Amino acid sequence: MNAQQIRAAYLDFCKKNGHVVIPRALLVPQNDPTTLFTGSGMQPLMPYLLGEAHPEGTRLVDSQTCLRAQDIEEVGDNRHTTFFEMLGNWSLGDYFKAEQLPWFFEFLTEVVGIDPARLYVTCFIGDEENGIPKDNDSADIWKKLFDAKGVAAERADIGSEADGYARGMKPGERIFFYDASKNWWWRGNKIKDMPVGEPGGGDSEVFYEFDFVEHNADFGPHCHPNCDCGRFVEIGNSVFMEYVRGENRFEKLPKQNVDFGGGLERIAMAAINSPDVYKISLLWPIIEKLEALSGKKYDSYTTAMRVIADHLRGAAFLAVDGVVPSNKEQGYVMRRLMRRAIRFAFDLGIEQALCEHVIPVIAELYRADFPEVLEREQQVIDVLIKEEKIFRQTLRKGLHEFSKLTQEGLTGATIFKLYDTYGFPVELTYEEAYKQNIQLSDTAKQDFEQLMQAQRERSQTASKGVFKGGLGGHTLQHKKYHTATHLMYQALRQVLGDHVIQRGSNITEERLRFDFSHPEKVTPEQLKQVEDIVNEQIGNDLKVSWAEYPTEEARGPLGALGQFGDRYGDTVKVYKMIADGADKPFSFEICGGPHVDHTAQLAEDGKRFKIVKEEASSAGVRRIKAVLQ
Ligand code: ALA
Repeated sequence: MNAQQIRAAYLDFCKKNGHVVIPRALLVPQNDPTTLFTGSGMQPLMPYLLGEAHPEGTRLVDSQTCLRAQDIEEVGDNRHTTFFEMLGNWSLGDYFKAEQLPWFFEFLTEVVGIDPARLYVTCFIGDEENGIPKDNDSADIWKKLFDAKGVAAERADIGSEADGYARGMKPGERIFFYDASKNWWWRGNKIKDMPVGEPGGGDSEVFYEFDFVEHNADFGPHCHPNCDCGRFVEIGNSVFMEYVRGENRFEKLPKQNVDFGGGLERIAMAAINSPDVYKISLLWPIIEKLEALSGKKYDSYTTAMRVIADHLRGAAFLAVDGVVPSNKEQGYVMRRLMRRAIRFAFDLGIEQALCEHVIPVIAELYRADFPEVLEREQQVIDVLIKEEKIFRQTLRKGLHEFSKLTQEGLTGATIFKLYDTYGFPVELTYEEAYKQNIQLSDTAKQDFEQLMQAQRERSQTASKGVFKGGLGGHTLQHKKYHTATHLMYQALRQVLGDHVIQRGSNITEERLRFDFSHPEKVTPEQLKQVEDIVNEQIGNDLKVSWAEYPTEEARGPLGALGQFGDRYGDTVKVYKMIADGADKPFSFEICGGPHVDHTAQLAEDGKRFKIVKEEASSAGVRRIKAVLQ
């Protein structure tokens, strides 16, 4: 099976097991200030794992497009990509281990046809300190599954990753118990950092073994499933989300959930037994195109071709989801991906029209399975071509500055300035210096590294701030801003017109931010009108409630508001805000929640709704920031 077939087969397999296929969420999370990108399948489902009812029921399946920008620097090896798809199935208080593990095993071995002898599994060893027991249930299930295939499956207690490197694996061992650093899952990292109210649980991971890949002792003396040498690759993780961090100890969630995530690309690698992810059907055609364009071979230009293929695929999908290159947030990451791709294309001798040639190949890979790719293809190509042009101009300008700035030689500060101010890649600075016979001292390089390090620390601090922990948008303050957003959306339509469509939303404890389509600046008078309407509706103490509707009915005759580019399943949850005794709601909008119960809650402590900023966000899109103060 190729990757596209695996995706289709998985959705189908889960459908047969009673799951409803839900559409992927956008790469840019909506109403979730905690991360820049959707980085796992469960992220958009957080409210439902915490107990909200999902309109499609208790068994859900999807293939979620994900982006992990923190992996940018690792791209170039044989298995890291920034963009990937995570196959996901969820039990919202429905089935548990006894169904989940046999299903996934059956899917891998019977549907995809993977040799069970190449599969290894891990389970949670338990955590005494937090009162969480060892997961023998999962191990028992795995044992039966392997036995039925005639595959030896002894258990081994490992502990931490370091223990794994020290101990290694003994013949016949297949079920490995690791501690919370490996087999406990929540949205963040360490179990001890889980904030109160955050859900999590032990998990059970499945690894595929490339038995012809020799262990690399640089990673540690012995190989084991969680070793990073590349012999084992994780292809799926079943999280048994049944705990929530309480004030003093872990407590059981009201319901036991399953959160399964499987890397589509990695399962596709296992299916063709290739430790190189770029050989799968969703990436190889891009590499082939690069070979054709450059006349160079993948085997000799592996890193450059991998970086270009990964980065342009990620940037293309960001464009599909409405992101445009900029110097901030998602737009900045998109710009970085593109610039790195263009930079690496120099190594291949491709000095123009990279996007023009490559993006159509990427679109072709996804067009049939993601209608939005087909729909927005030309826009995506235009956005990327434009950014490529801008960058090539930047490079020319950088070259010009280079000549001016290097008249007195090349210092670390100059290299940094070229990079930071003119966007001129440091590799090109070094190359240019070499070409022009300008001396490049070790001191200059070290100075530059120091300046870079300081900048990295600054941006890390900034991105740490992005993951604020807490309840991922579920504190009362978040709910208030979320409700205020609905009120403002409706008010904007009343004041400006029906062309106003939501293009993005981001809520923190301190403010709301809302992007919407509108061709020109909103005048101060109009902003004042919007404020007045929102404050009036807060004063009217609208009752906030929700109900489920068939999507067609909600979007059609009922006229529920939605957001540009959102895809909905067959049923949607619609939030209604209505005054006592009124026959028509003020706001009626498709949304997952959560919200406050009454709009008067927004006015607690005498607070009023206030717009603090109105600005352009991108072409034809305005951005408003507003507070309750
Ligand atoms: N949420 C789990 C993960 O991302 C499945 O690994």
